[in-house]
Amino acid sequence: MKKLLITRRIAEPVLDQARDRFDVTLGDGALTEDQAAAALTAYDAILPTLGDAFTAKAFEEAGANPRCKILGNFGVGYNHIDATAAAAHGVIVTNTPDVLTDATADIGWTLILSTARRAGEGERMLRAGQWGGFGPKSMLGTHVTGKVLGVVGMGRIGQAVARRGHFGFGMEVLYYNRSPKAVDFPARQVDSLHELMGTADFVVVTVPGGAETTRLINAAALAAMKPTGIFVNIARGEVVDEAALIEVLEAGRIAGAGLDVYEKEPHVPERLRALENCVLLPHLGSATVETRQAMGQMALDNILAWDDGRDPPQRVN
Ligand code: NAP
Ligand code: GLV
Repeated sequence: MKKLLITRRIAEPVLDQARDRFDVTLGDGALTEDQAAAALTAYDAILPTLGDAFTAKAFEEAGANPRCKILGNFGVGYNHIDATAAAAHGVIVTNTPDVLTDATADIGWTLILSTARRAGEGERMLRAGQWGGFGPKSMLGTHVTGKVLGVVGMGRIGQAVARRGHFGFGMEVLYYNRSPKAVDFPARQVDSLHELMGTADFVVVTVPGGAETTRLINAAALAAMKPTGIFVNIARGEVVDEAALIEVLEAGRIAGAGLDVYEKEPHVPERLRALENCVLLPHLGSATVETRQAMGQMALDNILAWDDGRDPPQRVN
């Protein structure tokens, strides 16, 4: 039986299927670079996820022809895996697109609405026993319907966020994307990130992580936002200069931020946690029972395809 490492516990029905075919080892935490290198030499296949450090150095340490031949990643984002180094070492990498698009877009909208309507702040006040009752001027937030939504990265999740904005909230949709992209609902692609940041009332970031997008949202991009603007990141923490974001939020230069992802997860800076104009979620994008099971199934199906000698359908390298 081939040896399969699943680096974190996944849905039981998927685990059972994996155990029918492989000698399964179940991990319980993110792999460091050294642990990733060791795993590449000890297992035939690995089902990793976010935080497992399959860096170029890990592949180098594992040698030219590691025992592992496939990383069936649990997650659509795979910036924790150097897919180019993997290919150079004969390791296939796959991911789990589409099945998490709606759940992640819903978290984007949870953040848009809860930041605009000060839901986190209001709930904290009520739980602290400090609510004094309804008041015509108390806890006023920002209206969402009819405003301008700006999407950075108009891929699967960006489009799902934008559709909800157009059809559900009557918003004008603008987007900034690496390449020209046509969509099947009213939305306008803008040429510059600066234009998008300066025009939108709500900016939602949905680009992949990695070298190309690291700190794409820098101090200058944030400075272009309207003082009433709300910034939402459901992509990867490193896409945003977190220190610059904290500064604009502390100074009140934008109205608020809703974040699902952070530069050094699970660390969330104390200064960010102290801000009332910020809604902070613990990377919940795909976290529904149904979605996480579908992701596990897709990750395993790719590994099963490889084991059958077929081409894994969600191959990325
Ligand atoms: P996708 O379909 O590949 O969409 C990514 C989009 O970003 C593409 O349209 C791409 O443009 C664009 N893009 C890439 N680099 C860019 C750049 N430098 N500037 C502007 N646009 C750029 O991916 P997806 O399925 O929507 O997922 C997007 C990301 O969301 C994932 O990679 C992951 O990091 C994150 N995510 C987070 C959660 C969560 O739990 N918060 C859950 C799922 C996913 P092109 O058309 O040129 O390729
Ligand atoms: C989650 O962040 C993913 O990329 O699937």
